[in-house]
Amino acid sequence: MSLPVLRAGRDDDAAGFIALLTECWLEYPGCVVDIDGEVPELHALASYFAEQHGALWVAEQAGRVVGMIATRPLGGDVWELCKVYAYASQRGTGLAQHLMHRAETYARAQGGVEMKLWSDTRFDRAHRFYEKHGYIREGAIRVLEDLSNSLEFGYTKPLTGIVVRTLDAAAAASAIPALQSLCGSQPAWRKAASDVALATRALLLAWVEGEPAGLANLSLAAGHRAELQTLHVAPAFRRRGVARALLHHAQTLGRPLLTAQAPDTGAARATLHAAGWTEAGRIPNFHRTADGAGQAMVMFYREQP
Ligand SMILES: CC(C)(COP(=O)(O)OP(=O)(O)OC[C@H]1O[C@@H](n2cnc3c(N)ncnc32)[C@H](O)[C@@H]1OP(=O)(O)O)[C@@H](O)C(=O)NCCC(=O)NCCS
Repeated sequence: MSLPVLRAGRDDDAAGFIALLTECWLEYPGCVVDIDGEVPELHALASYFAEQHGALWVAEQAGRVVGMIATRPLGGDVWELCKVYAYASQRGTGLAQHLMHRAETYARAQGGVEMKLWSDTRFDRAHRFYEKHGYIREGAIRVLEDLSNSLEFGYTKPLTGIVVRTLDAAAAASAIPALQSLCGSQPAWRKAASDVALATRALLLAWVEGEPAGLANLSLAAGHRAELQTLHVAPAFRRRGVARALLHHAQTLGRPLLTAQAPDTGAARATLHAAGWTEAGRIPNFHRTADGAGQAMVMFYREQP
């Protein structure tokens, strides 16, 4: 069978949209579909988004709608991703990613700097998809009071430039796939995310043009101090100021003293120097490699006024 083709959505795709959305909703227990009562916009969806200065796309295969996505401005430079649906047979093929990329590229071209979305708390497969693509949970759960008794998570992602955010407990839990793809070791990030909920740890995530690019992981266990335990930037994003932005953001955590350790050779030491941290001394043979060789460690600190 031919590959799906992306094209602008039309009002006369209504039957395809209704069939697709109905099948997706009915995958989840307790979801009730009442198109005329609750989603009447599906009858003329292209006009609905055009009136809001948004846009709508479909993936069409052999004359049939197999996927859809839309985006619209919410005000200022914030955009919303809407109506993200693909048939189960299309999942895992990259189609949803292709649709999302189309909508994000459009929003960016219109001046969008932040993309938000709402997703039913039952749609766990969708959450994994958004989280894999750098969206993090934001804010309170929304209660819709609809026939399906829907509760929705809010998700958000910066679309442009280098942006660093301090993750709260919900954001940290949702960022585990991004943290893992940057740095590996899922159990460690689960524990780190639960530490965030206890206010004993700060996790900072950096995006470059909407892609998770780097992280900083700081222990807050020691009262007035924040101890930088991990600073990592994905190789593809190095030497673009991502670590500098993460270290700068660490200064906003409200801790008067920041500390770190770095091997005495390599990029980390240079990065801490460049960010204005002070060397406090060098400890020889601090680490031992598997072959028994010693690795010296340099202690760093930075005092906050
Ligand atoms: C160290 C690391 C975080 C730096 O990330 P980065 O985003 O590339 O760093 P930045 O682009 O913000 O660099 C800021 C400044 O640090 C210095 N710097 C960074 N990497 C450097 C390198 N490889 N050699 C020399 N100087 C370097 C430069 O002064 C740079 O400014 P410039 O590019 O304008 O010259 C990254 O290389 C990394 O993740 N390494 C592996 C993990 C690691 O060592 N973590 C540190 C543990 S404490």
